[in-house]
Amino acid sequence: MKRISLTRFLVEEQRLNQNIPAELRLLIEVVARACKTISHAVGKGALGEVLGTANTENVQGEVQKKLDILSNEILLEANEWGGHLAAMASEEMETIHPIPNRYPQGEYLLLFDPLDGSSNIDVNVSIGTIFSVLKAPDGIATPTEQDFMQKGSQQVAAGYAIYGPQTMLILTTGNGVNAFTLDREMGSWVLTERNLQIPVDTQEFAINMSNARHWYPPVTRYVDEMLEGKTGPRNKDFNMRWIAAMVTDVHRILHRGGVFMYPADKRDPDKPGKLRLMYEANPMSMIVEQAGGVSTDGKQRMLDIQPTTLHQRVPVFLGSKNEVDLVTRYHLDA
Ligand code: F6P
Ligand code: MN
Repeated sequence: MKRISLTRFLVEEQRLNQNIPAELRLLIEVVARACKTISHAVGKGALGEVLGTANTENVQGEVQKKLDILSNEILLEANEWGGHLAAMASEEMETIHPIPNRYPQGEYLLLFDPLDGSSNIDVNVSIGTIFSVLKAPDGIATPTEQDFMQKGSQQVAAGYAIYGPQTMLILTTGNGVNAFTLDREMGSWVLTERNLQIPVDTQEFAINMSNARHWYPPVTRYVDEMLEGKTGPRNKDFNMRWIAAMVTDVHRILHRGGVFMYPADKRDPDKPGKLRLMYEANPMSMIVEQAGGVSTDGKQRMLDIQPTTLHQRVPVFLGSKNEVDLVTRYHLDA
């Protein structure tokens, strides 16, 4: 196999398509390097004394794991000094993180979920890091939260790292989706898949079925019809998978198709779903669209939603085109 490193890939992409200027390349390489460090910590597990909870809560009132906090610190530290960023935002921090005065400021905004699927950490199941890159509005001196309030369609890059049997980096800069595998001995990211495409049809769905009694009618209808299988209205049997780490469920869907759902439900009207728009739904939606899939909040294209707050939640339906189109139609019909 001809080995193409992440750096070479980014340089050649820029040469071909002029879509990865030097500052963006630096940003992506710095994030990828941070993910390498996180992967190393995750891989150490109990040997690194990094498992377990930290006895703190994040802004969403979720108990933080030691690795949530560590991963957040790794990403902050790695990205402060390079001069490529104007500010950062993270699931683990209530407000935005401006670049300290001692460093030069760049033109990009970086958002991340440092460690997605945290409930899997202590049971050795795949988890990941999700990131989204926006451009800071022109001419701003000190970025504010308001400067982050851009639609997902404004993202200039998005990606995730998955820490599983292999550590991989999935990346889009708006020109398809490519995958890199971490060569653990060499410490380098190597291009291993080009131009990932999600099959338009699928017989696999992902949803937390234990919430079924709380769902709204369109979701119940859609899932019930799948469960009826071959003899039901869908005329085919469906299989189900739920890993409880969005990164890992999306990674499977990118490779063999599927539909991932985290709907809003009747439990708490103030909480439209569980997942966060800015650093979970938007980056994953950009990746899914770039791989030929579809992503909606049940009614509209995810990437067209105008954000109003940094940590806002959103219902998520993403994956194989024909399935996401169908469940979206059920919502619009209702
Ligand atoms: O980040 C939130 C998250 O951990 C996702 O990665 C995952 O898809 C979901 O929550 C799992 O939620 P639940 O615990 O309700 O199944
Ligand atoms: Mn998450």
